[in-house]
Amino acid sequence: MDQYFESYEELDIHQLMLNDKTRVLAYKNAIFNSREKFQGKIVMDVGAGSGVLSIFCAQVGAKKVYAVEASILAKSIEQVSIENNAQNKVEVIHSKVEDIRPGDLEKVDVIVSEWMGFYLVHEGMLDSVLFARDNFLREDGSLFPSVAKLYASPCQLPSMYEFWNDVCGVGMRFIGKEYRKTKSLKPEILLVNQDDLLAAGKLLAWLDLECISVEELDPLGGEDYVSVCEKDGRFQGMCIWFAVEFPDGSELSTGPHDEATHWKQTAVVLPEDVEVTRNEPVAFKLELKRDASRPRRYNMELSLLDAEEVEHDVPCNCHMTRCIVTKRYIDDLDDSESRMAENPDS
Ligand SMILES: C[S@@+](CC[C@H](N)C(=O)[O-])C[C@H]1O[C@@H](n2cnc3c(N)ncnc32)[C@H](O)[C@@H]1O
Ligand SMILES: [Zn+2]
Repeated sequence: MDQYFESYEELDIHQLMLNDKTRVLAYKNAIFNSREKFQGKIVMDVGAGSGVLSIFCAQVGAKKVYAVEASILAKSIEQVSIENNAQNKVEVIHSKVEDIRPGDLEKVDVIVSEWMGFYLVHEGMLDSVLFARDNFLREDGSLFPSVAKLYASPCQLPSMYEFWNDVCGVGMRFIGKEYRKTKSLKPEILLVNQDDLLAAGKLLAWLDLECISVEELDPLGGEDYVSVCEKDGRFQGMCIWFAVEFPDGSELSTGPHDEATHWKQTAVVLPEDVEVTRNEPVAFKLELKRDASRPRRYNMELSLLDAEEVEHDVPCNCHMTRCIVTKRYIDDLDDSESRMAENPDS
C-alpha cells in the first residue's frame, strides 16, 4: 500500500480533521442546505475516511452513497454506518477510486470530497476527484465543493523575526538569521495573525472543479502580481491560503481573517525583511510547480519584482504617480457619469 494511504491509517489524523469544526460544519451545512441535490440521489464520497461526509449525505436523504476509501479505515465506515442507521444507504468501496472500473458502477448525481491539503494542492488528491468526476459523475451532476481559490498576500512573521530580537532579555538576532535561512527553504505551516497581513489577498488561482483538467493544475499562479500595502509594517514573507465554494454559494475559507482550521496558513519566509509603508506596492511572482519525482508535492517559487516594471491593477491604490493619475482620471469619470445620471438634461 502506498505510503500516502498508510498515513491516513493513523486515527490521530482523522481526529484532527473531525475536530476541525469549521471544516466539518462547512461541509455539513453545504450538504444540508442543498437537500434537493441529495434526496433520492446517488452520491460518491471520494476519500471517505471515517465516513463522516457519507453519513451527512445519507442523513439528508441520499438513496445511495458510495463511500470510496483506499486506506484500511474503509473497514470502519461500515460500523459507522450501522451506528448511524445508514447501513442500507452507504456502500463502502475499499479501493483507490482510480482502481474502480467505470463499467462496474452506475453514474452518480453528486460527488462530495474533502481533498484539500496544505496550500490547497499539497497531497495532489484533487487529481483523484477529477478522475472520479470524469468517470463516474453524470453529465449535469454536482460537485461539493465546486470551486477552489488560492490566495497570497505579503505579511509580517513575528515568530520568524521579532521573536529572536529579545528572548527574556537575551538578543538572538544571529540565530534568528540562521533560523530563517533554513525556514526559507520550504513553506512553513503556521497561523498568521490577521493584523500581520499587509494587504488584501491576491487571487493566484481560481479552479472551476466542474471543468478543470489535471494538466491545468501545474503550474498554479506564476503571473506577476502587485499587492498594495494597507498599512506600514515589515514585509517578512508571503502568506498563502485557500477557500472552496459549494453549490449553495457557501464558502470554507482558511485565511488569517477566518476561523482557524487545521490547515492553518502557509508562509514563504523571506531571509531578510523589508520595511514597507501604507500604499506601497509589493510586486511578486509566486508559482507552484508540481514536483516531477513526487507528484503529490508542489515546489513554490517566490520572486520579488520591481514594482516599476510590472503592470498594476486598474485602478490601483498604490502611491506610484502613474497609478494616482489613472485612479484620479477614473474617479473623475465615475463622478461625471453619476452627475449625468442624476441630471440627464444638464
Ligand atoms: C482529507 S481525508 C478526508 C476524510 C473524510 N472525507 C473527512 O472529511 O473526514 C482524505 C481521505 O481520502 C482518502 N483518499 C485519498 N485519495 C484517495 C483515492 N484516490 N481513492 C480513495 N481514497 C482516497 C485518504 O485515504 C483519506 O482517508
Ligand atoms: Zn499601483
